[in-house]
Amino acid sequence: MNQALPPTYRIAPSILSADFARLGDEFKAVIAAGADWIHFDVMDNHYVPNLTFGPMVCQALKPHAKKADGTPVPMDVHLMVEPVDGLALAFAAAGADLISFHPEATRHAHRSVQSIKAAGCKAGLVFNPASSLEMLDWLIDDIDLILIMSVNPGFGGQSFIDSALRKIGHARARIDACGKDIRLEVDGGIKVDNIARAASAGADTFVAGSAIFGNPDYKAVIDAMRLALPAPRNAPGR
Ligand code: DX5
Ligand code: ZN
Repeated sequence: MNQALPPTYRIAPSILSADFARLGDEFKAVIAAGADWIHFDVMDNHYVPNLTFGPMVCQALKPHAKKADGTPVPMDVHLMVEPVDGLALAFAAAGADLISFHPEATRHAHRSVQSIKAAGCKAGLVFNPASSLEMLDWLIDDIDLILIMSVNPGFGGQSFIDSALRKIGHARARIDACGKDIRLEVDGGIKVDNIARAASAGADTFVAGSAIFGNPDYKAVIDAMRLALPAPRNAPGR
């Protein structure tokens, strides 16, 4: 049995909840506030009932995806689109570092993972609140990220769905059993007062949109989230 290494936590603010009238400034501000990753919620008004932004926004922001010391900040692209493959390649070309997709949104999930990896990005699978983890039986060896939805995809500002905690636990068990370095990200309704529950269930990467951008002091919220995480906590970026 692999001795699970203590997690290196990552906070991934979702720009879906940023002020789109000042998106560049918001992007820089949340990185300066300590964001480890930036989460891009791409929606096509087909797979989900909402429409957000395309690869050109990712491309425009890419040059700013770095900390003050020049350390790159990974762009974590969450595709809520159907079909997947064409847009995945477009986001890879636009500078995405990680690309995750909903398996229900593609005819051939294994091939979609292959094409994301071939484009030089890390690949992730996204599991909706009612979706089972069964597909991991055949894909866990090929992916770098598992994203567990704790809200139904399409909107920020929703309430956390508690059953996601059980699914996070099941995903953590699968990751520990396979011994690969796969990040386990939870997405939706994450706040300072519930992030510890998600971490205790096994998550190591936390998407937060409205909790961060809904507060005037982004750093205060990110710091409070890190403080709420069970030890070993880590400084930003470690
Ligand atoms: C929902 C998105 C989430 C959402 C998170 O479809 O995938 O990333 O923006 O927003 P909050 O943190 O406000 O629930
Ligand atoms: Zn998301």
